[in-house]
Amino acid sequence: MSASDAPEQLIDAARNARGFAIAPYSRFRVGAALEATDGRIFTGCNVENATYGLTMCAERVAILKALSEGARSFRRLAVVADTEGLITPCGACRQIIWEFCGDIAVVLANERGQSETLQMRDLLPRPFDAGYLKDAP
Ligand code: THU
Repeated sequence: MSASDAPEQLIDAARNARGFAIAPYSRFRVGAALEATDGRIFTGCNVENATYGLTMCAERVAILKALSEGARSFRRLAVVADTEGLITPCGACRQIIWEFCGDIAVVLANERGQSETLQMRDLLPRPFDAGYLKDAP
């Protein structure tokens, strides 16, 4: 799979991962699929916790799986939910995506056949990142 490819395969991987979501509290199931530049695809689903605050979003699960398997360079991330419109990653996930994936394409899709691709720079304008830490006295 390459950057110019249609995102259907990646969306399908995210849709499949959504089937594994553990969402007994919200019942809101999300799937994600992250494509590395070497072609590997890492998937994730949301995993909720009774304390609520420890819930992990699908996007972060996919990213942490990828990092823990040595992937460091990424091309695209697909996110799938079953909503009327298209969901976007939460604020915490945007920060993590920026830190580890940079300005990648984010493919938003639902279970109703709709999709749209956005760039991370548009989802997280003026991000805080490691560049600022160099300015510490
Ligand atoms: N969730 C995700 O996994 N990704 C998103 O982009 C938005 C929200 C999860 C977190 C929680 O388990 C449920 O959806 C409701 O917020």
